[in-house]
Amino acid sequence: MFPEQIFSAAKDVDHAFLIILGFSVFILVVVTLAMLWFLYRYNYERHPIASQNDGNVLAEIIWTVLPLVIVLGLFWTGWTSFKAMRTIPEGAMVVKAEGRMWSWKFTYDTGKTSSELFIPIDTPIKLELSARDVIHSFYIPAMRVKWDMVPGMDTDAWIESDTLGDFDIFCAEYCGLKHADMITLLRVLPAEEFQAWLEGMPEEEKDKPRGLALMEEYGCFDCHTMDGTDDVAPPLNDIANKERLIILPDGAKRTIKADAHYLKTSIMDPGAELVDGWDDEMPPYEGDLSDEDADVVVNFLLGKDESGKPLSSGPHPGEHMVKIEGCLMCHSTDGSKGRASTFKGLYGSEVSGHRFGKSSTEVVDEAYIRESIKYSSKFVVKGYVDSMPPYDDLSEETVTGIVSYIMTLGGEEHQ
Ligand code: CUA
Repeated sequence: MFPEQIFSAAKDVDHAFLIILGFSVFILVVVTLAMLWFLYRYNYERHPIASQNDGNVLAEIIWTVLPLVIVLGLFWTGWTSFKAMRTIPEGAMVVKAEGRMWSWKFTYDTGKTSSELFIPIDTPIKLELSARDVIHSFYIPAMRVKWDMVPGMDTDAWIESDTLGDFDIFCAEYCGLKHADMITLLRVLPAEEFQAWLEGMPEEEKDKPRGLALMEEYGCFDCHTMDGTDDVAPPLNDIANKERLIILPDGAKRTIKADAHYLKTSIMDPGAELVDGWDDEMPPYEGDLSDEDADVVVNFLLGKDESGKPLSSGPHPGEHMVKIEGCLMCHSTDGSKGRASTFKGLYGSEVSGHRFGKSSTEVVDEAYIRESIKYSSKFVVKGYVDSMPPYDDLSEETVTGIVSYIMTLGGEEHQ
């Protein structure tokens, strides 16, 4: 009759439900039958003249006391089952559960976090429930547990499972566009397996960039995709240094480049520089995500490693471009000297030469490389002749690709 029930303290909830349902059905049947009987017995043909009653003490006592006893009895069954679920056992293992649009975050006292709720079997767990943004409701049907999560209010609850396996966790409070997607799993493990999970790191997590792991942990992908498709928020792949039309809080529009500063602002205070065409719906992560972690996420989005160095693994898109555009006819990427200076170690180095005929020494930064590609004659490095044609007809994307590729070949100490 009932769905599976894995929380022993909530078994009384099922009893209370049955008892209340039983009484309700009983009363429905009695009232309906009485009604039908009165219709039959006291209709006009059988009973043309109504009789008058001047009160009946016994009847009044019965219809006052009987419902009172029933209602108190129903209250008692509800109260005892509620109390069992409200009384959190001493020494229960504490897990913080946070609801947010539109996913869950569970934090263990080791600091480990998870988007699914892992618990050991036959162990009382104290849940500290909270909400990040709007009201959610933490609902495990198999445990008959459903608690509202209200922003700014801390709610404690407890659970315990006597059964191994995976069980659904739903959000039971309408909380916006993707409320229906706010689903996760309760995973009940044997004690040793749970301990291993708590202390270990799953195989697939080991090679994962920390920026990506943080984005999963903080639920970025509940609204953003990494494959270029629009969700309720703009996609985040291939965002580095792209031009964005943003709206400032005063309504003014401005085109900016998605650089580290912009990306960090978008995480910490999304409303401050909102991309045109999207609603100001993302909660600010200021104070929630540490400054350091925000930098790691920004570096990940910019295609760099945790400390902001360009990733060396995998071919850089610019590597292909320098071949197609013929750069390698004169320039090398391995340090060997050709008709023009090598790209290796170029970025960040100091070069002497002539700017408009005047000798000067300059540091090779992003702007320098960009200028050298588009208008190489402006600055000619000592020892080389001014023979490179201006590449001012390259697309902005190609120039950016080549510049960033050359930057990856730069000297370590300057990046
Ligand atoms: Cu959260 Cu519905």
